Amino acid sequence: MSAGSALIGVGVGPGDPELLTLRAARVIRDADVVLAPSSALDAVGRAESIVRQACPGVRIERLAFDMGDAAASIDAAAATVVAGLDAGRRLAFVTLGDPNVYSTFSSVAARVRELRPDARIETVPGIMAFQELASRSGTVVLQNAERLALVTALDGPDVLDAALTDPTQAVVVYKGGRHLPEMAKRLAAAGRLDGAVMGELLGLPGERVLPVAEAAEGPAAYLATVIVPPAG
Ligand SMILES: C[S@@+](CC[C@H](N)C(=O)[O-])C[C@H]1O[C@@H](n2cnc3c(N)ncnc32)[C@H](O)[C@@H]1O
Repeated sequence: MSAGSALIGVGVGPGDPELLTLRAARVIRDADVVLAPSSALDAVGRAESIVRQACPGVRIERLAFDMGDAAASIDAAAATVVAGLDAGRRLAFVTLGDPNVYSTFSSVAARVRELRPDARIETVPGIMAFQELASRSGTVVLQNAERLALVTALDGPDVLDAALTDPTQAVVVYKGGRHLPEMAKRLAAAGRLDGAVMGELLGLPGERVLPVAEAAEGPAAYLATVIVPPAG
């Protein structure tokens, strides 16, 4: 591996290209290779679409991720990265939101570290979906000594019950779109439905930002985020 080679996880924000930071744009433009996760080699992923708009002209190489066989996809992505590092390249791996929060980048980086323990691996922070939702909906997430729980509800809304027991705790829910109607019921039962907001496809075509109480007639998309502010 040459001294200049590096793998850099670059957060590109939740959707609006204006939320890709100047540092992210510089790192993307300076990279020898820009890698973007995608569901298939002929599908433009969300992160690629954001980079296309924010950094026109940058050439992007897709990494196909088959969620049915995530381990094999991560191995394949790590092999591509290792080949680039061995060739002395700087690789920017672009990812939605922030690369250190629920990102495929962490899994790929961990595998690369196993294969090349001396590899230089860095990240560039990105604006997260819940920050954009707070801004767009005018929601104050935390004040004074309040706390924040960030949870994922991919497997169901049960995770909410424990998170809602502390009224001074704000709760952000990721990956809970399909369980939105049930989540709304749990919020109502806990007296926390008022003020809870949902942002779906933020910064992307079809975006919706609205109170959970008005959005819960049916499931939302996978790319949906809920903020439940503290009760006070
Ligand atoms: C795999 S996680 C990625 C999180 C990302 N690394 C971050 O820092 O925000 C995917 C979840 O992030 C949230 N998310 C990401 N982008 C979003 C968007 N544009 N609109 C709404 N929610 C989004 C959703 O809850 C989605 O299920």
